[in-house]
Amino acid sequence: MKYTQLGKTDLNVSRICLGCWQLSPSFWGEVPLDPWVESVKTALDCGVNFIDTADAYGDGYAEEQLGLLMKREGLRDKFVLATKFFWKFTEPSGRHPDTTHDYILQACEDSLRRLQTDHIDLYQIHSWDAITRPDEVARAFNTLKTQGKVRWFGVSNLNPEQMELYGKHFEVSCLQPPYNLLDRTIETRELPYCLSKNIGVINFSPLFRGLLGGRYKADSTIEGKRANGPLFHGEGLKIMIKAIDEAKVIAAEHDLTMAQLAMRWTLTNPAITSAITGVKKPEHILGTVKAADDVLSHKVWYQVANLFTQAKAKALAAG
Ligand SMILES: NC(=O)c1ccc[n+]([C@@H]2O[C@H](COP(=O)([O-])OP(=O)(O)OC[C@H]3O[C@@H](n4cnc5c(N)ncnc54)[C@H](OP(=O)(O)O)[C@@H]3O)[C@@H](O)[C@H]2O)c1
Repeated sequence: MKYTQLGKTDLNVSRICLGCWQLSPSFWGEVPLDPWVESVKTALDCGVNFIDTADAYGDGYAEEQLGLLMKREGLRDKFVLATKFFWKFTEPSGRHPDTTHDYILQACEDSLRRLQTDHIDLYQIHSWDAITRPDEVARAFNTLKTQGKVRWFGVSNLNPEQMELYGKHFEVSCLQPPYNLLDRTIETRELPYCLSKNIGVINFSPLFRGLLGGRYKADSTIEGKRANGPLFHGEGLKIMIKAIDEAKVIAAEHDLTMAQLAMRWTLTNPAITSAITGVKKPEHILGTVKAADDVLSHKVWYQVANLFTQAKAKALAAG
């Protein structure tokens, strides 16, 4: 495993980060716990020292399960622990965004309790809240930092203007955006901004929620809510599988699987610190970990990028 510094922080993180969103039954369906627990331990054995969760995953369930596991196995100190807040899900009326001062302090206490720890290494705002002033967010962050409950702060799903605004009030250490062969939106603005400011970038969905894992066929029924996406069923899926079959040939020429090629493709971008992959069983992490060993050549990177850009356009037009 290779390690790198997360932006301007003192956190030395593995280039692959383990994501815990899979413990969110409303999106992924029921994921059995035992294989998930084994996958976290396997990731550690493979050198992964970075784990990402959120209070919203399973409305606290993912944090709770991670907390139980870390406590039982004494794993807390082995991980750089990242979590997020934003969605107030504790009200019976349903969830809504909240980044007000008092709510942040409460959300952090709740996450610390569920995670069974006294500090979070990277505390991230899950998305942009249009109706709370950045200085109010910063006031809560100052308190948490002074109390030693949080070490560094990050943001997720934000554009450069939003990061710039927050950056006037607190240090934005890290951005967590989507980035993969089928979603390259951040290449134009967010990645150059983060490079210029030395803000770490930890991209989510490097395998496009599993589609780029290479295990599906044109007639597969893909489980979970992701199946609603236009590339996950019907004509869109057929076109994607054709592109994936072509990419598998390129991957094999470089002694890689499709999942490793897709993951290595994101890690080749110099703005990317770490790619966050989601796992349900040990085979998932064992199957991708090799991606972090090296980067792709310019030729292969653009070859694969073009293949998927064209396939996506065709698939969306067909849908
Ligand atoms: N900040 C945000 O808004 C946000 C949003 C989404 C995710 N995230 C974070 O990012 C993490 C990763 O996102 P993601 O779950 O979409 O990541 P992903 O890595 O793109 O997709 C994960 C899925 O890929 C499949 N997979 C994993 N390893 C594989 C392998 N070696 N070979 C073949 N298939 C494999 C599995 O699905 P199947 O086997 O079921 O196909 C797995 O559930 C999340 O867990 C979460 O921590 C953050």
